[in-house]
Amino acid sequence: MLKEFFGTSRSGKRTHLYTLINKQGTQLVVSDFGAIIRKLIVRDKSDMSVDVVLGYESLEKYTTNYDTYFGATVGRVANRIKDGKFNLDGKKYTLDQNNDGNCLHSGFNGYHTRLWKVTDYRDSVISLSLTSPDKDQGFDGNLQLTVTFELTDHNELVVTYEGNSDKKTLFNPTNHTYFNLNGHKSGSILNHDLTIEADYFVPVGPNMIPTGDFQLVTDTPMDFRTETKIGKRLNDPFDQFVLTKGYDHHFVTKEGPDSHLGLKTIAHAKGDLSGIKMTVISDRPGVQLYTANFVSDELGKDGAEYQARDGFCLETQYAPDAINQTNFAKPIIFPNKKVVTQTIFKFNTTNESE
Ligand code: BGC
Repeated sequence: MLKEFFGTSRSGKRTHLYTLINKQGTQLVVSDFGAIIRKLIVRDKSDMSVDVVLGYESLEKYTTNYDTYFGATVGRVANRIKDGKFNLDGKKYTLDQNNDGNCLHSGFNGYHTRLWKVTDYRDSVISLSLTSPDKDQGFDGNLQLTVTFELTDHNELVVTYEGNSDKKTLFNPTNHTYFNLNGHKSGSILNHDLTIEADYFVPVGPNMIPTGDFQLVTDTPMDFRTETKIGKRLNDPFDQFVLTKGYDHHFVTKEGPDSHLGLKTIAHAKGDLSGIKMTVISDRPGVQLYTANFVSDELGKDGAEYQARDGFCLETQYAPDAINQTNFAKPIIFPNKKVVTQTIFKFNTTNESE
């Protein structure tokens, strides 16, 4: 176990980094500031250690450049809510408009900017908890939230969220880690191979709010049902890319009314140079693929300078603006009914069998 001082937050609180290690020597470094994943070191096909996530060197950077969401635990509700407004049971709610008039990742005061309380820390497990009071970010209900990161000896990073509110509210947490399976300093991810097990994606209109439709991926650059390089079709004349500057879309990985139940393998990615493979397993209805389109000259850890396409996010969640969209499954939770949701990132190299 290794707990290190990370820095003093703007409000004068001491923050720490916690290292988890499993029997395969995989290492995860998590910060109690923001429940942020700062480092994830796995072995490549030559048995070299590779840090596969983008991150910053200092705490200060995480507090000033919080809108990149590097490694962030995002909540209470990930992604966009149109105009920062929604209705629930006839009551109107107003949230921050922090992104072109819409609310992105719950506004200016996201959970990734808070100091979390470490409630459990062992060799390969850490739990961090947060109390989000009634009216926090504009939502109703005192929400108790715990996120647990566990590194199993099978090289899985298991991320478990537990949420319990005393009032009906929305709950759609995610993790916003940018992966680069060739190593965080290795440049573009466009030659990574990607599979997403989704027949439909959610097209968006202006300012990236969903049109309300589900569109078949067939014959579009959104078809990742068979392994394809991330960059292969990025320059195709596809109307969605004009609006989003790259992949920034929700893929429907589960269809039907029980879409939030049960773990399912939803995506595979592979670093072309490292041979590191990542499988994503989740109980969420979908996943946002984001190719770091808005990252530019971002000074990261170990002297890295990140550009657009130097990382990709697979953010498991409910669809953007779901609460305002008639046909989308809604991230609503009920008073004193604890919700537990899980996403697993499993790593292996091309030398090993799965
Ligand atoms: C969103 C992007 C946004 C990014 C910020 C992603 O989850 O889909 O549109 O720019 O977060 O890092």
